[in-house]
Amino acid sequence: MKFELQYTLQGTKARAGKLQTAHGEIETPIFMPVGTVGSVKGVHFRDLKEDVKAQIILGNTYHLYLRPGMDTIEQAGGLHKFNGWDGPILTDSGGFQVFSLGDIRKLSEEGAKFQSHIDGSRHMFTPENVIDIQRTIGADIIMAFDECPPGDSDFEYAEKSLGLTQRWLERCVKRFDETEPKYGYKQTLFPIVQGGVYPELRRRAAEHVISFERDGYAIGGLSVGEKEEDMYSTIEVVNEILPEDKPRYLMGVGTPINILEAIDRGVDMFDCVMPTRNGRNGMLFTSEGIINIKNKKWENNFSPVDPNGTSFVDHHYTRAYLRHLFQAKEMLGAQIGSLHNLAFYLWLVGEAREQIKAGTFKQWKNVMIEKLGRRL
Ligand code: GUN
Repeated sequence: MKFELQYTLQGTKARAGKLQTAHGEIETPIFMPVGTVGSVKGVHFRDLKEDVKAQIILGNTYHLYLRPGMDTIEQAGGLHKFNGWDGPILTDSGGFQVFSLGDIRKLSEEGAKFQSHIDGSRHMFTPENVIDIQRTIGADIIMAFDECPPGDSDFEYAEKSLGLTQRWLERCVKRFDETEPKYGYKQTLFPIVQGGVYPELRRRAAEHVISFERDGYAIGGLSVGEKEEDMYSTIEVVNEILPEDKPRYLMGVGTPINILEAIDRGVDMFDCVMPTRNGRNGMLFTSEGIINIKNKKWENNFSPVDPNGTSFVDHHYTRAYLRHLFQAKEMLGAQIGSLHNLAFYLWLVGEAREQIKAGTFKQWKNVMIEKLGRRL
């Protein structure tokens, strides 16, 4: 996988680049819509590609392994063939989902024993089988198996947990390097930096991951209950150490403001359920602030969802109509909300890229942050 750094903004760490994968090119900074079970909830891939302008989507090892299971995915010829998305895919390793969704029975040096949130069946993830599963899913970028400690973990727990994540990483890399892709195109493995909110641990974690000389690196364990300042300072500490010429992926983050702050600190890739989850519940992000579309104040407001918006829905549906759909619990409302929010996130990172190229990112970011925090 090739990463080409095209612009870095003087006086900040913000940068714009191009990432080449087996299923196409990604322009960074980029936001990756979350397709947990292989679908981005409520959104057709045609709309995702042509309207939202998504360049890469995310899948989840935990969910796909439990349902439909690896037999089906393998017989289909991998996830790209199974779900019909022919662009780049990244899969998360399952670590984070086991801890947040599954009922963990036992965490040990070997791996994590858990019960399915679907039917209570018993399973175990290890660094080795998580690599094997991601080989079968066939994502272009696959993630190492890690433990994500809670945001309020004390130093002792975060240090112990980091030790486990580091030993698991060594096993992931070994398994990855010993095995071949199943479907004839290259995959790449990203290690994950953990270490809680402790700079010493984060530095140790960052030094450790770069020793494996991979194509890119992720920062995990953030937006899990820690203070926002701690998230930003942690990104700064880690990005001092991660190499400039490799993409950096901030996992599971976040609000539009979080994303702009992280781009400013040198992050290139993002994913988060927020645009789809909030969108289908009627909370819409716009370039002027946040809208709760269910609010009575929109009852007779016939302006477009986002007058500055770039997606189909922004121009074709009014706030009053969309509110009506939510009031009537019509499923089209949830679809339009999801599509709009995704289009907004992709617009935001695309605009950030243009502003970096033009040298105006800093000023633009300050204006945007003031607007994005407003409640309309
Ligand atoms: N998604 C959000 N945060 C994390 C993390 O720390 N680890 C993994 N594997 N996935 C995540």
